[in-house]
Amino acid sequence: MADTKRVARLELDGKTYELPVISPSVGPDVLDIRKLYGEAGVFTYDPGFTSTAACESTITYIDGDQGELLYRGYPIEQLAEKSHYLEVCYLLLNGELPDREQMETFERTVTRHTMVHEQMHNFFRGFRRDAHPMATMVGVVGAMSAFYHDSTDVTDPRQREVASFRLVAKLPTIAAMAYKYSIGQPFVYPRNDLGYAANFLHMCFAVPAEPYHVPPELATAMDRIMMLHADHEQNASTSTVRLAGSSGANPFACIAAGIACLWGPAHGGANQACLEMLRQIGSVERIPEFIARAKDKNDPFRLMGFGHRVYKNFDPRAKVMKQSADEVLDLLGIHNNPTLQVAKELERIALEDDYFVSKKLYPNVDFYSGIILEAMGFPTSMFTPIFALSRTVGWISQWKEMISDPSGRIGRPRQLYTGAPARDYVEVDNR
Ligand code: ACO
Repeated sequence: MADTKRVARLELDGKTYELPVISPSVGPDVLDIRKLYGEAGVFTYDPGFTSTAACESTITYIDGDQGELLYRGYPIEQLAEKSHYLEVCYLLLNGELPDREQMETFERTVTRHTMVHEQMHNFFRGFRRDAHPMATMVGVVGAMSAFYHDSTDVTDPRQREVASFRLVAKLPTIAAMAYKYSIGQPFVYPRNDLGYAANFLHMCFAVPAEPYHVPPELATAMDRIMMLHADHEQNASTSTVRLAGSSGANPFACIAAGIACLWGPAHGGANQACLEMLRQIGSVERIPEFIARAKDKNDPFRLMGFGHRVYKNFDPRAKVMKQSADEVLDLLGIHNNPTLQVAKELERIALEDDYFVSKKLYPNVDFYSGIILEAMGFPTSMFTPIFALSRTVGWISQWKEMISDPSGRIGRPRQLYTGAPARDYVEVDNR
């Protein structure tokens, strides 16, 4: 924990309380209120955690005003251009970029864990075919603790390590199986001669009846999508993973909780909702109508893929994603794609509109990712599962950091209670 020489003073009912000020390596200072309730008998109130740092972390840094995102200090733009997903996984999990030997060992380990227990196939078959792949993933990832008991002891660092490998390695297999099951095709086993992203595309699009060659450019684009989604500090799903993990719950249960949280349309579910919205708008002429609806306080409609709790500037991931969308559509020979045209025009109009400018609402990562995934051949229901498999490494890195922190305690928020004070039970005849 950083240096705490400065203090802030809180005056309450004639008494003064000193709150140590902690300076992080980068970013705003933090007031340490851990002793506040014990000393002053008051809680702080911050629903939505707008002003609350819930933990100390060394993994990811976001400057929302500058539109800056760093993984272990490295800017996302540099990683997206020069690195690759498994190297980013190593970086997030271990804190430093690997040397050649460390990279080879890591890649070999992940590759050798990609198959799932054969009995899991039966488990999949218990779901309805029309289940959303996210629903299936929540169930199957949670069930991993029933298949891999030997990596559920969270007090054993080696078991934590093995659970990490298993989760990073098997999530693409599980997501691809959820997809294959939903379209009634046979499961495709992982192929160890393919890279991480290419293997995922192969498991999704290959069929036993004919060979399937993964276009290398699409594998690169998929790898970049995975890198851009790998971690994002203490967002809703990551905080869910940390809170679940703080009770000592096993890693598979914690990641399943993260997946469940990610599914919501205000979070990871926004990529599906965004593409559906772009299709609903349909043509550039209809954009003003939807902009007006987004601005209307009495209309619940929001521009999906716009706005972010932390970024009050361009989401740096959206910039990379926009460029990728152009490249992928070009590669696939998709010109004049109406969805992309609507997206670009919507972005242009919104960025000039007073409502969006004054509220600092910019496109977020989900605005362009759906266009790329759709062009690759994924149905919208697979967008959030792809986010989930990419984010798994971030969740595990955060979970491991939390578990290995000796000062860690169970997460237990308090509340501002506004319900009835104590009252006596009333017999039914007297109510
Ligand atoms: N369209 C129209 N208005 C918006 C939008 C939007 N997409 N986002 C925010 N606003 C408005 C709100 O109505 C509010 O206006 P008000 O101050 O007049 O009441 C103001 O901007 C602030 O919005 P909040 O909801 O208070 O901001 P919050 O930080 O709680 O929400 C969120 C952030 C959930 C991302 C929001 O911007 C949103 O719903 N966006 C659309 C969904 C989306 O794209 N989610 C993906 C997030 S990124 C990710 O998870 C990977």
